[in-house]
Amino acid sequence: MRIGAGPETVLEWLALKFNLGPKPLADTQIAFQFARIVMASARAGLFEALRDSGRTAEEVSRLCGTHPVATSKMLDALLANDYLGFRRGHYELNRLSRKWLLSDSPSTVVHKLDFQEIEWRWTEEFDRLLRDGTPRNMHETLTGNEWRRYQWGMRDFSTAPARELAWRARLPRHARTLLDVGRSHGFYSVALCRRYPELKATVLELPEALPAAAEILARENMADRVAHMAGNVVNADLGTAVYDVVLIANLVHHFDEEQNNQLASKVARALRPGGIYIVLDAIRISSPAEAHRPGNRLGAVLDVYFALTSRAGTWSFPAIQDWQQAAGLVTRRPIWLRTMPGAAMVSATKPR
Ligand SMILES: C[S@@+](CC[C@H](N)C(=O)[O-])C[C@H]1O[C@@H](n2cnc3c(N)ncnc32)[C@H](O)[C@@H]1O
Repeated sequence: MRIGAGPETVLEWLALKFNLGPKPLADTQIAFQFARIVMASARAGLFEALRDSGRTAEEVSRLCGTHPVATSKMLDALLANDYLGFRRGHYELNRLSRKWLLSDSPSTVVHKLDFQEIEWRWTEEFDRLLRDGTPRNMHETLTGNEWRRYQWGMRDFSTAPARELAWRARLPRHARTLLDVGRSHGFYSVALCRRYPELKATVLELPEALPAAAEILARENMADRVAHMAGNVVNADLGTAVYDVVLIANLVHHFDEEQNNQLASKVARALRPGGIYIVLDAIRISSPAEAHRPGNRLGAVLDVYFALTSRAGTWSFPAIQDWQQAAGLVTRRPIWLRTMPGAAMVSATKPR
């Protein structure tokens, strides 16, 4: 998936191709200002105000208690960028905003937009990171309310990939036990349990995450099949031959190479023969020679971000498979996710 300047006409395509237009400004000024327009509009309730019917800018501003002129400008910016429709003098939701920007849509991302206000402030530290390389260690510095916003944000980018994982992961047919590491809300466990009727899942999470994570999971009515367990996977004992499946989604990017190697060994011990270890994450290129590989952009940008949040980063296929093979597991062909472009499932099985 591309980030930033996306040409709309042949002339714009030519201007980009021949380096005539200032792509760095589209990638920065326009991208960050529009990002903030979407975030501010969601926070102020502009999309919710259009939930039931189209409205004029004045009606939206009255309903949201926002400034009329600023509201009208924001609505026009959203319209120009295909986030809204407009008919007979009224702004209205379109397919995109109805699916992603209403708080009660199953696919909502409004909680993630809310958490991005915190992430926004963190990214202002990229200059410092570049100078001294020091991370901020996000899991040690989040405050109580930030933990809550973090967990709700994590919920939002999991719904579609959770369903895809459940269909494409190919678990052992009679899998009964799943350890889901750092799974927060437990949505991947819920999707897998719905697909594999004999499966029960334990979600291992940091204690600070559990109040909000438990609240999100409770809405799924799966308490008999998916349970939380407080712990830190870095020093937790995962046991011996207890699980048919161990899943770690969007977490290895917070760990360094040594931690990931140790984790793979613990996982290999905790798996039953024939069991499967699934790492799901954004994938980075393994060398600059792969820089133009499709799907490389997400992993490259997040690699910098996780250096800031955790002194770690995204990992390449060979790196993840090295941990798995060193732990005695047999790697499978990785599967790119369609619902999270740039992320993949990297699985390995324990020999029988
Ligand atoms: C980036 S989030 C990903 C959440 C979820 N796996 C997903 O894909 O939506 C990482 C999660 O792992 C948890 N986590 C971080 N470090 C952990 C650790 N050492 N042990 C267990 N959980 C951890 C965090 O609290 C957070 O919920």
